[in-house]
Amino acid sequence: MNVLLLGNGGREHALALALAADPSVTGLYAAPGNPGTAQVARNIDLDILDPAAVAAKARELEAALVVVGPEAPLVAGVADAVRDAGIAVFGPSQDAARLEGSKAFAKDVMKAAAVPTADARTCTALAEVEAALDVFGAPHVVKDDGLAGGKGVVVTGSRAEALAHAEACLARPGAAVLVEEYLDGPEISLFCLSDGARVLPLDPAQDFKRIHDGQQGPNTGGMGAYSPLPWAPADIKEQVVREVAQPVVDEMARRGTPFVGLLYCGLALTSKGLRVVEFNVRFGDPETQSVLARLATPLGQVLYGAATGDMPETLEWRDGAAVTVVLAAHGYPGSARTGDPVTGVDAAEAIENAHVIHAGTALAADGTLLSAGGRVLAAVGLGATVAEARTVAYEAMSRVGLDGSHHRSDIAAGI
Ligand code: AMP
Ligand code: GLY
Repeated sequence: MNVLLLGNGGREHALALALAADPSVTGLYAAPGNPGTAQVARNIDLDILDPAAVAAKARELEAALVVVGPEAPLVAGVADAVRDAGIAVFGPSQDAARLEGSKAFAKDVMKAAAVPTADARTCTALAEVEAALDVFGAPHVVKDDGLAGGKGVVVTGSRAEALAHAEACLARPGAAVLVEEYLDGPEISLFCLSDGARVLPLDPAQDFKRIHDGQQGPNTGGMGAYSPLPWAPADIKEQVVREVAQPVVDEMARRGTPFVGLLYCGLALTSKGLRVVEFNVRFGDPETQSVLARLATPLGQVLYGAATGDMPETLEWRDGAAVTVVLAAHGYPGSARTGDPVTGVDAAEAIENAHVIHAGTALAADGTLLSAGGRVLAAVGLGATVAEARTVAYEAMSRVGLDGSHHRSDIAAGI
């Protein structure tokens, strides 16, 4: 079958690698893709936020399946347009994508489905924010209600900083913020595939969201990840399906807006038990780079099955672990410098059990690889244990050069 993959980040390069390795995927297109996807797919020009344009292109390419990588096209209704055109699409409808598009909506669904999450208040005025901060106490958690590319959340001990963030969010017309109870304990990311009725979990991963080592500095899109989690309870997947994913999928079906695609459950294992931190409605980045590196079941068939109500019962996994370390450009997560040469990718890939995932890269006319975004690339290492995979990933990263770049040195350390 022909598959059209939407997006241009590291997640999409990882998805493209897994789709290209599936013998049933005979034609793979990435829109717009990046220099990494170009190695295994045909990159094509397309405005992926234009639902009609995506549906028309899928028809023209005779795609049997469209896989939507990022959240923005989902929130824009791209999956609806493709489905209406009679083409299978892995990704939720605009209505179901509100689970990520509005944090207040997600809280409402969780309440209806009795899913454990942080207590929260939705506020549209600063006075409400002040009252809510007093109710919950420090550390303060203030979240932009809408999409913010992983940067809309501030967790801080400082009331002034919490208020400043709320004020900045509320400055936009029609904006709302959530003030939440602080959740302690380690976080995990568990991806659940759904065909609208059933739920099939992938192996869990852990993401490193802060920019600096030791969980310091501002939140980012994610600076590294590993999978699986040797320290997590053995039945974590079953528990999350039972207590979180299945009730949410049931509630969405009950509302007449079934969830088809990937429900990303961001969870905290708190002293009071499992709590949902957030939902996303697409694969996580960079967790996908670690999770899919170990998936043995052909991905195209799995995603086509989810999109058409014929999902497999189980998934096969390779033994061992995968660790992903992200290389960020100078200035990230603020405004990132672009256009610097990236060196050493081939040398990094020459290491056994290592590969490089492209994210914010571009090829100059003369073939030079250049930085073109905040998160530029990632080194992925595989190994028998997390520690071995980590050594491989960092060895690969040490061979990559990019002026002014930075990466965390403590991804998956001590696991
Ligand atoms: P979100 O965009 O909701 O995933 O939040 C981004 C990050 O902020 C999470 O991964 C957590 O590290 C942190 N965070 C969000 N909500 C809470 C909370 N209620 N308590 C503690 N940390 C949180
Ligand atoms: N790694 C976090 C996310 O994809 O939202």
